[in-house]
Amino acid sequence: MSFSRNALLWMSENKWMRQEVPSWQFVKNAVKKFMPGEKPEDALTTAARFDLLGIPTVFTHLGENITNLDEGCAVCEQYLKLIDIIAEKKLNIEISLKLTQLGFDLSEEETFNRFKQITRKSKEKLNNVVWIDMEGSAYTQKTIEFYKKIKNEIENVGLCLQAYLFRTEKDVKELIEIGANIRLVKGAYKESSEIVFAKKKDVDENYIHLAKILLTAAGEDRIRVAFGTHDESIVYSLIKWSKQNNIRKDKLEFQMLYGIKKDKQKDLAGRGYTMRVLISYGKFWYPWYMRRLAERPANVWFVLKNMFS
Ligand code: FDA
Repeated sequence: MSFSRNALLWMSENKWMRQEVPSWQFVKNAVKKFMPGEKPEDALTTAARFDLLGIPTVFTHLGENITNLDEGCAVCEQYLKLIDIIAEKKLNIEISLKLTQLGFDLSEEETFNRFKQITRKSKEKLNNVVWIDMEGSAYTQKTIEFYKKIKNEIENVGLCLQAYLFRTEKDVKELIEIGANIRLVKGAYKESSEIVFAKKKDVDENYIHLAKILLTAAGEDRIRVAFGTHDESIVYSLIKWSKQNNIRKDKLEFQMLYGIKKDKQKDLAGRGYTMRVLISYGKFWYPWYMRRLAERPANVWFVLKNMFS
């Protein structure tokens, strides 16, 4: 892991910075590159524009590791209201959330009940999937267990898995057996080299290896898979591999973040692939934003430019 990536991930977890930095105007301005605004209305207006281009979206109300269960209750209420608005507007929007934003650190039972409410309502009003983001490795096992439990009760749930973890191949194979909906990403957290591939080249190779296992299962209609990556060489090699293996185009779904590789997003959608854009909103953007900077430390220049402009 490079020094700058390490430093940015350290900053994402630093308590003092988590409190102070979000009030700095030049950082607030720079964040706009990755999120249309803090309010759900900002995300909804943007989603309607993507909809016109044939690009469905995924919404995330930013937040993680709440310290008081009432906050999780408010998050749940906010998502329930949002589902009504999405249904009214007839937009193709799925929801993706972090379990620690619903109170996973405080009560697994409460988190389960809240997540179930959101998922049930989403099934009833939108008939679509609610995704669980994958957080740092301290949560991997617990999140997978949570997913299996909820999947047993409700079909329309999806889970994010991280290709940088050594354990993920085993998880992928087990989750295929239960017909999971899986979003594969590389992984965004600061982790020990005892549990993750340390070199980018190895993470990329493992991503492709896992993607092929997942695509084979998707081609047999056993699962839904979405590839959460902006890595063009991976995207195009998966398209090529699918063609060679007679996997239908509609089985290939890509998900990218708002503001990153906009032209590629339009290009893939225009060529008939499902391309979903993840739009984030909310006040608690600091740790999430720092992980975006860590993915491409060159983004820091953009923040600095805002400081002087
Ligand atoms: P990589 O980092 O190799 O980037 C490929 C290219 O994309 C770069 O060269 C650059 O051009 C561009 N790029 C990538 N990131 C950029 C950035 N921040 N700014 C500007 N350009 C950038 N992680 C996790 O641990 N848990 C999760 O639940 C999720 N969920 C999730 C959902 C979706 C829809 C996406 C797209 C990503 C996630 N992630 C995630 C984040 C993921 O783990 C990973 O950190 C990022 O996607 C960056 O990795 P890439 O696959 O894009 O490749």
